[in-house]
Amino acid sequence: MSPEKPSILVTGGAGYIGSHTVLALKQAGYDVVILDNLVYGHRDLVEKVLQVELIEGDTSDRPLLDNLFTTRNFAAVMHFSAYAYVGESVSDPAKYYRNNVVGTLVLLEAMLAASIKNFVFSSTCATYGVPNVVPIPENHPQNPINPYGATKLMVERILSDFDGAYGLKSVRFRYFNAAGAHPDGLLGEDHNPETHLIPLVLLTALGKRKSISIFGTDYPTPDGTCIRDYIHVSDLADAHVLGLEYLLKGGDSEVFNLGNGQGFSVREVIAAAEQVTGLTIPTQECDRRPGDPPSLIGSGEKARKILGWQPQYPNIQDIVAHAWQWHLNRHK
Ligand SMILES: NC(=O)c1ccc[n+]([C@@H]2O[C@H](COP(=O)([O-])OP(=O)(O)OC[C@H]3O[C@@H](n4cnc5c(N)ncnc54)[C@H](O)[C@@H]3O)[C@@H](O)[C@H]2O)c1
Repeated sequence: MSPEKPSILVTGGAGYIGSHTVLALKQAGYDVVILDNLVYGHRDLVEKVLQVELIEGDTSDRPLLDNLFTTRNFAAVMHFSAYAYVGESVSDPAKYYRNNVVGTLVLLEAMLAASIKNFVFSSTCATYGVPNVVPIPENHPQNPINPYGATKLMVERILSDFDGAYGLKSVRFRYFNAAGAHPDGLLGEDHNPETHLIPLVLLTALGKRKSISIFGTDYPTPDGTCIRDYIHVSDLADAHVLGLEYLLKGGDSEVFNLGNGQGFSVREVIAAAEQVTGLTIPTQECDRRPGDPPSLIGSGEKARKILGWQPQYPNIQDIVAHAWQWHLNRHK
């Protein structure tokens, strides 16, 4: 660690995207502390791989935050912690508004009380709802179609109001589909329950699941299945380091899509997985799921231009291969 780099608090750093970013921050020389309640995070991973301080606690615990912010000197907070299951957000929206909005508000107020004015936020393409145009630019209207997306949009609005009123500077990253694993096999995607396509396909390849469901084969896309923009988690992590440095250099609040600008259909992802694993992956064709737009692709041009972000792994084969390596290591 180089002594001139400041300390950063990373909420949700024991989770999937947070852990990859903690590693990238550490490799860039930052001093990192993780705050995670471990509801979905992994203590093991923090202790064995990341080897940074873990504070087990909740972002809605104001006394804990006050104590943390007065005893440490953080230059910024990176906020990954949230609940992110779209279906559950529909059946139990209170849980989502409480954690994703109220929990974030408590954190922001504690930051302001401690005069910490730099914030990097994990937003989502789910704030756009059903797009009018793809690739989706950042100025596309935001009309989320589920409570999860609504919670993230609310926080985006809070951040914009807090900048105007209190000078809190934020970078809001709207991720498309985070995927893949650390290229060295150190970290990977370990959600429980898992709902993301690539790990589900690979768990099917490993025989942990009987088949992979394809929801809808009659979409207006070349092969009839939904198209999504998969962005490698290490590329997301790099974008976060750049976003942090942009703020630390005095940059104004900004919003950036983090996507590849190209999409892959469900069938293309399965084909890539069959190619990478050398295995046949059983599929089951099902009806469409309500609220699944045919195509979600994000323009990442703005992040490239302003932050100098250069995704290293835009190729779906690389994304799947890294995820496969991680799954093989985990299940051997
Ligand atoms: N995975 C994706 O494709 C994707 C896409 C768009 C946006 N996002 C957003 O990115 C962020 C990270 O997603 P992820 O896939 O790494 O999820 P994850 O569940 O792996 O990580 C979230 C972490 O936050 C922790 N956490 C949750 N609530 C907390 C609280 N109140 N206090 C402290 N810790 C808490 C969990 O224990 C977990 O370790 C989330 O905000 C999510 O909404 C994810």
